[in-house]
Amino acid sequence: MAGERATERRVLRRERKRGLMGGREKWFSLTASLLMLAAESACGGGKAVLFNFGDSNSDTGGLSAGLGYIFPLPEGRVFFHRPTGRLCDGRLTLDFLCESLNTSYLSPYLESLGSNFSNGANFAIAGAATLPSNNPFSLSIQVLQFLRFKSRSLELVAQGFKDLVNEEGFKKALYMVDIGQNDLSGAFDSNATYDQVVSKIPSIISEIINALKILYGTGGRNFWIHNTGPLGCLPQKLSLPRKDDSILDPYGCLTPLNNAAKEFNTQLSTLFYELRSELSEATIVYTDIYSIKHDLIANHTRYGFESPVMVCCGYGGPPYNYNANITCGNPACNVCNEDQKFVSWDGVHYSEAANTIVASRILSTEYSTPKLKFDFFCSS
Ligand SMILES: *[C@@H]1O[C@H](CO)[C@@H](O)[C@H](O)[C@H]1NC(C)=O
Ligand SMILES: *[C@@H]1O[C@H](CO)[C@@H](O)[C@H](O)[C@H]1NC(C)=O
Ligand SMILES: *[C@@H]1O[C@H](CO)[C@@H](O)[C@H](O)[C@H]1NC(C)=O
Ligand SMILES: *[C@@H]1O[C@H](CO)[C@@H](O)[C@H](O)[C@H]1NC(C)=O
Ligand SMILES: *[C@@H]1O[C@H](CO)[C@@H](O)[C@H](O)[C@H]1NC(C)=O
Repeated sequence: MAGERATERRVLRRERKRGLMGGREKWFSLTASLLMLAAESACGGGKAVLFNFGDSNSDTGGLSAGLGYIFPLPEGRVFFHRPTGRLCDGRLTLDFLCESLNTSYLSPYLESLGSNFSNGANFAIAGAATLPSNNPFSLSIQVLQFLRFKSRSLELVAQGFKDLVNEEGFKKALYMVDIGQNDLSGAFDSNATYDQVVSKIPSIISEIINALKILYGTGGRNFWIHNTGPLGCLPQKLSLPRKDDSILDPYGCLTPLNNAAKEFNTQLSTLFYELRSELSEATIVYTDIYSIKHDLIANHTRYGFESPVMVCCGYGGPPYNYNANITCGNPACNVCNEDQKFVSWDGVHYSEAANTIVASRILSTEYSTPKLKFDFFCSS
């Protein structure tokens, strides 16, 4: 594999020398493997650099730092043995992806103490949506924070500070985005009809596309995008009073909510397809988180889980053990004994056990387009 890569790189260098990489049309006529190789390494000198944008699915402590709030135990109990600001009993999917690169977990941009920004930063904030909402950290704000972070880092690097990302690091970094779930979730919670929710999807996606264009404009070249998961399988949604059209699918999930998530993903992948030609020097990997999570729920017994829609840390007992007034962290909660048997930690967020599987499926490349390995961006 390494040998193959080296050969292909030599071919790529040769093509570059011959001037083939100049014109956009010529660029596109190159084979897919060459296109893949055109990506700059995210790991200059074997060092991974990641910048992540998103919501609670990948927030490693940003909301907690930003609002000065400590999520209490049992958050973090199975791995960190203390709350870390992650809404999970342990590690998030992003943490496992960092582990796969042998790099530290990403520090939240807003964390003023104990942060290590030498391998990038995490701008994801629990509750964030792409569009402005009750949560102040919408995607466009996260991108502005990144731009400030970048200019501040470069200023400090120029002054001789070590352990910060330099110009080369920003260029070779992998930019990751996982957002949109709260836009859809909020739209359904506001009592909008299915058609009204679906009509909002293009404006949600255009925020994601704009974010990518800004990151590309500032020199980012490598992008890793997660689509949105099956919203209708979240116990939080399942425990709400049902509307007339809220039929359950064979796995016990709400069909309209899952259909809206699928529609979002269809539009997102179509736009990424177009974006790949517009941002001609970018490598954009699109990963189908929906299929990964839906498989996890549908085939949960095969992965060692019991009921996939019953919450480990919640209130109210079966079938969901979820009550919006008494959520995880409330002293009145029931907390399960065996976290590893639950897909859902708190009704919205997956357990560490579920995240382990999601991460391993991501790393398999089976759900990615193009099928690039996560450490591809590290091979220099
Ligand atoms: C991470 O470390 C393991 C064990 O040392 C090694 O096998 C693997 O290749 C490393 N991965 C990367 C991306 O450096
Ligand atoms: C910061 O993170 C990098 C990347 O994982 C690691 O090599 C380095 O040792 C860390 N620095 C400190 C002070 O923990
Ligand atoms: C939600 O929508 C239904 C049907 O359109 C309507 O009857 C109901 O009053 C609405 N509820 C709220 C809280 O707006
Ligand atoms: C469940 O697993 C089977 C066998 O691997 C697979 O064909 C099916 O697509 C999975 N179900 C879902 C909803 O992913
Ligand atoms: C939560 O509290 C509100 C206000 O007291 C009440 O109307 C609602 O029914 C409660 N929800 C649940 C799920 O118990």
